[in-house]
Amino acid sequence: MTGVRVYLDHAATTPVLPEVVDVVAARLRMLGNPSSLHASGRAARKVVEESRESVAAALGARPSEVVFTSGGTEADNLAVKGMFWARRAADPRRIRILASAVEHHAVLDAVQWLADTEGAEVEWLPVDRLGRVDVDALGSALERDPGSVALVTVMWASNEVGTVQPIGDVVAAAKPYGVPVHSDAVQAVAQLPVDFAASGLDAMTVSGHKVGGPIGIGALVVRREVDLVPVLHGGGQERDVRSGTLDVAAIAGLAAAVDVATTARAAEAPRLAALRDALVAAVFAAVPDAVLNGDPSPGGRLPGNAHLSFPGCEGDSLMLLLDARGIECSTGSACSAGVPEPSHVLLAMGVDPLVARGSLRFSLGHTSTEADVTAVAGAIGPVVERARAAGMVNLAKAG
Ligand SMILES: Cc1ncc(COP(=O)(O)O)c(C=O)c1O
Repeated sequence: MTGVRVYLDHAATTPVLPEVVDVVAARLRMLGNPSSLHASGRAARKVVEESRESVAAALGARPSEVVFTSGGTEADNLAVKGMFWARRAADPRRIRILASAVEHHAVLDAVQWLADTEGAEVEWLPVDRLGRVDVDALGSALERDPGSVALVTVMWASNEVGTVQPIGDVVAAAKPYGVPVHSDAVQAVAQLPVDFAASGLDAMTVSGHKVGGPIGIGALVVRREVDLVPVLHGGGQERDVRSGTLDVAAIAGLAAAVDVATTARAAEAPRLAALRDALVAAVFAAVPDAVLNGDPSPGGRLPGNAHLSFPGCEGDSLMLLLDARGIECSTGSACSAGVPEPSHVLLAMGVDPLVARGSLRFSLGHTSTEADVTAVAGAIGPVVERARAAGMVNLAKAG
């Protein structure tokens, strides 16, 4: 091994952009709590408000609609719990949550928690074999008793299989009933055109470290008219829905990253899609019975996502064998890695649980090059062969 790592796990976290490092370093040297009224505080506040304006402009939102959080997980929790509590407080009949079955755990577990402890009734919306949510099922669930629905939540694009959801159709289904819609757009920003106002969404989650910003910063973009009950209580920052001293350096870093990533997107997305297609072709050439999961059509999946199953293999073995060869990828979403269960996303798509266990996600980003694809092309055949041999041994032992 040369020591050069091939990093193909950008969906877990992508390298911080050099511009962002400079911005964050400069802001870290600044003194001041943005809530303080003296000159240092006002200077810090200015950075926060300029960052808010910049994030809003890049995402088609108004500055007052941007609520900074500690990342995607917190923004998802604030959206799901905050909207549920506020809608139920306004009308106690509103206890149903309609959520896609393929959400990230930050939404999935927040929704499940509301069901387990707060009396929410959850309807998990089915997806098809490509991972696309069934909009007719959403329509029927709404129609059945619209007055009892607290909210709808469907992610913009899957962190796991890369499938892009029909967000326009989801919004169109809910709007006539006045039911608010949240979308987790963590993986979409920087890879797809994301315009909050044009989407018609009521709330949308963004995370810094998926777009070249720091880990630990994100935002909930939320329409002013949407009532939210806070999850965190304290100093009343962020229009009283997200207390906590604002992290000026991280916020400035988030703004810089969103700006750079959304500006670069038009050129970067086709570059990534071409690399992604070359990677998938190389895998098929080496392992003809590999299966591409998610939507194979160019417009239907994230340009940086290649999610493949290798029948007869364990995903963890594949991942570790590739890691030993200097190639870093994931068995699914980083958050569920290490848990030897097939992913809820693949199961919801109807993938055979045994096949699902032998899955890898290669995710590309701004530092990806043709050399990365060449490395995978050279390694994947022998690695799958070894993982299959190990699988046979384990099967024999188990049998
Ligand atoms: C779709 C999606 N939502 C939410 C999150 C959580 O974001 P964060 O890591 O900023 O908490 C992730 C990160 O893996 C994600 O991919």
